[in-house]
Amino acid sequence: MRLHEYYFGNLIKESQALDQESPLLLAIIKEFGSYENWEKDFKSMGAMRGIGWVILYYDVSAGRLFNIWVNEHDVGHLAGATPLLVMDVFEHAYILDYGINRKEYIEKISACWDWSVVEKRFLVVANNF
Ligand SMILES: [Fe+2]
Repeated sequence: MRLHEYYFGNLIKESQALDQESPLLLAIIKEFGSYENWEKDFKSMGAMRGIGWVILYYDVSAGRLFNIWVNEHDVGHLAGATPLLVMDVFEHAYILDYGINRKEYIEKISACWDWSVVEKRFLVVANNF
């Protein structure tokens, strides 16, 4: 239930890119080298075989971002880390609209990521540590 709340909570009709001075964007660049590298990794993880979730986590203890595959709903969560961006890649998330074309779903859903929500999630944990 909670993962679906994060998932639907980080969707909007039309995504707006992060501001160039955004602390989250700067953290993504620091961790992955560029936004494009991060996005490629996140989307590629979502296209893997299997059902589950892809989550951009912030590990406040390490001050690091991680893209993590969560199998089913329970395997792979990082203890103590905060989910920032959550993507559902169970069949029920896309099969009615995209058939078995999960990559198309990922492209369409990525155009609906609400970065203002994702950044708020990041700032709450990053600023309180
Ligand atoms: Fe779902």
